Amino acid sequence: MKVAVIGCGTMGSGIAQVAATAGCNVKIYDTNLATLEKSGKNLEITLSKLVEKAKIDETEKDRIINHISYATSFAELSHSDLVIEAIVENLDIKRKLFSELENYVSPGTILASNTSSLSIASIAASCQKPERVIGIHFFNPAPLMQLVEVIPAIQTSDEVLEKTVQTITEWKKIVAIAKDTPGFIVNRVARPFYSEALRIYEEGKADFATIDWAMKTIGGFRMGPFELMDFIGNDVNYTVTETVFTAFYFDPRYKPSFTQKRLSEAGFLGRKSGRGYYNYSEDLPKAVE
Ligand code: NAI
Repeated sequence: MKVAVIGCGTMGSGIAQVAATAGCNVKIYDTNLATLEKSGKNLEITLSKLVEKAKIDETEKDRIINHISYATSFAELSHSDLVIEAIVENLDIKRKLFSELENYVSPGTILASNTSSLSIASIAASCQKPERVIGIHFFNPAPLMQLVEVIPAIQTSDEVLEKTVQTITEWKKIVAIAKDTPGFIVNRVARPFYSEALRIYEEGKADFATIDWAMKTIGGFRMGPFELMDFIGNDVNYTVTETVFTAFYFDPRYKPSFTQKRLSEAGFLGRKSGRGYYNYSEDLPKAVE
């Protein structure tokens, strides 16, 4: 199977690894050449760590690397059976990308979005063949997280849904079919996990580290809300909350936080930028507050 992944940031790189591991020929496309290069280097590092831990051998590492190539034009993606978009979480930009992409792929190509929260129906409506569009929502980190939400839009054909579920299952993931509603299942349920933690902090009741500690030690979560937001990326996480808030007609339950907005605006995106709620650079003190 020929797969194209558009956007090779946190999610696109992981999705490409999953597809290549499953034996697909994968092409990764990104508008940012430096990011494309970084993605290739990171894949090499990730796979080398798996070899060190004896999870895979050198032959398997080379096999996965050889299944991935890098593209700088849509024309190079024309033979894809499935395209998975993982670019910035912005509806207008995604719609533009889908409508342009359709001119380059064959009529049978499935076009999927990895959006966390946006309307699949709206993305599909930007295409001439909306029945081929579907949501495939991986979780971070894609190679490790078992669950994948598959989201058919109102326009998606049964055949496309069936093929998608079959493919993702063959990639050894567990599929949950979700309705096309803001945040789908997991991201909607997760909103209060982040928002209430931010409110507790903003009310001066506890600092980031204490809230994270409490949720892990007492709540049994693997990561606290602030660690998790730094892991996801504050830009991505803030945008998802804002989308869900707006899409639910400004229901105050989903109200975003200024604390997170300012961090995102300042470029303190979390692990990927070296600073978020916590510092990740060696030369900075760990606590940001
Ligand atoms: P990211 O910021 O790490 O990567 C986005 C990539 O897209 C960048 O490499 C950027 O250069 C590229 N890009 C931006 N506009 C583009 C365009 N027009 N054409 C081609 N490439 C373009 O973002 P991340 O975190 O990988 O998120 C991507 C998508 O996946 C978003 O829709 C997000 O909501 C979703 N998602 C994110 C998760 C997370 O934990 N970060 C989890 C699940 C879904």
